[in-house]
Amino acid sequence: MAEVTVNIRDDGPLLVQGPCVLKDQAGNTVRESDNMVALCRCGLSNTKPMCDGSHTDNFDGTLNPPD
Ligand code: FES
Repeated sequence: MAEVTVNIRDDGPLLVQGPCVLKDQAGNTVRESDNMVALCRCGLSNTKPMCDGSHTDNFDGTLNPPD
């Protein structure tokens, strides 16, 4: 089974790298990908839940891991 990695981008989206299926609350497939999906983390995207680049220069979202 292929490994899936979620990368939190500073001031940007969550990058889901690896094969994945994104489903809505009803279980309907929203997106399928064999390699990468970018999920909006800023709330500004016009194509939620996907990132559309609207975060650029508009989102301060650096996460620091807890100590
Ligand atoms: S994280 Fe890219 S548009 Fe929200």
